[in-house]
Amino acid sequence: MAGTGGALAADALPGFFISVEGVDGSGKTTQAGQLAESLSRDGHQVQVVRDPGTTALGERLRALLLEPAADWALEGWAETALFLAGRVQLTAEVVRPALESGAVVISDRYIDSSLVYQGARSIPWEAILELHRICGADLRPDLTLILDLEISAARGRREGRPSLDRLESEPNTYHEKVRAGYLEVARRFPERAVLVSADRSPDAVARDCLELARARLQPRRAV
Ligand code: TMP
Repeated sequence: MAGTGGALAADALPGFFISVEGVDGSGKTTQAGQLAESLSRDGHQVQVVRDPGTTALGERLRALLLEPAADWALEGWAETALFLAGRVQLTAEVVRPALESGAVVISDRYIDSSLVYQGARSIPWEAILELHRICGADLRPDLTLILDLEISAARGRREGRPSLDRLESEPNTYHEKVRAGYLEVARRFPERAVLVSADRSPDAVARDCLELARARLQPRRAV
């Protein structure tokens, strides 16, 4: 049950939980959408969510958190708490019920984004993980697809966008730390996290993501 310590891991629920992660400009949102379409065609019931977002609270927090920094400051722990609040609501209101109903949930970012983005502001990983446990937002994805892209390439893609949000506007040194954080996630959680090279055509990336998802979904369905 949400809010009671959250010891329940996603793999104890009937559904299948996929998180899609990567630096800004890595193509996550496109890939999450494509993967959802393909898995729906395979016959799965698929629910796509975005973090921060999806719930009423999450969308409001998203607007606040991404507003280009102007006349207000956000300290690292405050930022951590706001992303956590959105994730607690998202988990309780949408992700956990969908997994309980047996759906495949594809989350455009989840807990690893806090580890790497707030970790890049020197917030310790252990503290972030513990806070998520306390708040019941510690669902462990069955599969985390990390779309890996060099920051110079990611920045090149972002330059085409009309305006940069608060996080996108951070200097390259910050985004390099974020990318290094993702490489550390892949090293630290090899049972669920897979690096997928995003420096290729969207179709090629989508093929790899689908193959990885199918390979892990099929043995579970066969049981
Ligand atoms: P995006 O969903 O369009 O990628 O934008 C979300 C931004 O928020 C992105 O720059 C990553 C950042 N973020 C964090 O800093 N911490 C988090 O926990 C999450 C989910 C996102």
